[in-house]
Amino acid sequence: MPFPIQRPRRLRSSESMRRLVRETILEPADFILPLFAVEGEGIRKEISSMPGNYQLSIEEIVKECEECAALGIGGVILFGIPDHKDEEASGAYDDEGIVQRTVRAIKRSVPNLLVVTDVCNCEYTSHGHCGKIVDGDVDNDISLGWLAAAAVSHARAGADIVAPSDMMDGRVGAIRAGLDQAGFPKVPILSYAAKYASVFYGPFREAAESAPQFGDRRSYQMDPPNALEAMREIALDLEEGADMIMVKPAMPYLDIIRMAKDRFDVPLAAYQVSGEFSMIMAAARNGWIDEQRAMMESLVGIRRAGADFILTYFAKPAARLLG
Ligand code: PBG
Repeated sequence: MPFPIQRPRRLRSSESMRRLVRETILEPADFILPLFAVEGEGIRKEISSMPGNYQLSIEEIVKECEECAALGIGGVILFGIPDHKDEEASGAYDDEGIVQRTVRAIKRSVPNLLVVTDVCNCEYTSHGHCGKIVDGDVDNDISLGWLAAAAVSHARAGADIVAPSDMMDGRVGAIRAGLDQAGFPKVPILSYAAKYASVFYGPFREAAESAPQFGDRRSYQMDPPNALEAMREIALDLEEGADMIMVKPAMPYLDIIRMAKDRFDVPLAAYQVSGEFSMIMAAARNGWIDEQRAMMESLVGIRRAGADFILTYFAKPAARLLG
């Protein structure tokens, strides 16, 4: 019987051998941890569908950020949960808003930790949609003004990066112009360029109290079957001045991540969203899957598909494991 000449198993024989030929390496600096800021003091309220994630008051967020910095995590992205919501999303662009005050507090205590702010209206509107409602639908162009104002107020508070997640047309251009006019030409925009209307945002909407009160987001977020449209969205955002782009969710859209990586030469982020996290946690808690291995395999897969960095609720446990 002839022996196989090629034996790929030779290079898998031990952990040291596997480490030598490993193609994709994860580092704590690749992760951005999403955090949910609430009004009040001493609040650390666990989100039931996202074990290990909390709604946090400002001083608790600062503690969390100190831990992230110590673990070498790349940064945090902030979502605000205001006490007061209205038709105009006024809390989104208020200099005394929850995100603005949180950014200032983090920058006072942990100045070197990168702070990204999510720029969107849905947590601040009484109806939970991402902009102004006119005739039952989100009005694109009125909403742009709110988004630009929110981005400027985040920059004024000290945000390092602003990340619009609303999917209005022209929002990157509006935000870029707003930032430049307000004296923040150096603040980069990470655009959620290819953001799909996904069922996997479910647990986040509980966390951020931002579920739409009527209808859904399909008139502005992308239709899951489309890939070429994602490339068009990314190209438009880059023309409008985006510095970095994002694909969201991550695991069901690994093909989109790879396509984007092959076509565009800017830093690419992927968001492993709440539902992706919660599915792994739920299966692990049932004893159906190994939590740590599922966490690391999902993250390395997203990185291998082409993401340069990953927004993930696993940032802390994964960073701890990577040591
Ligand atoms: C705000 C926003 C959402 C997420 C990030 N920014 C929710 C949505 O679009 O409904 C989802 C993140 C996650 O599920 O982890 N527009």
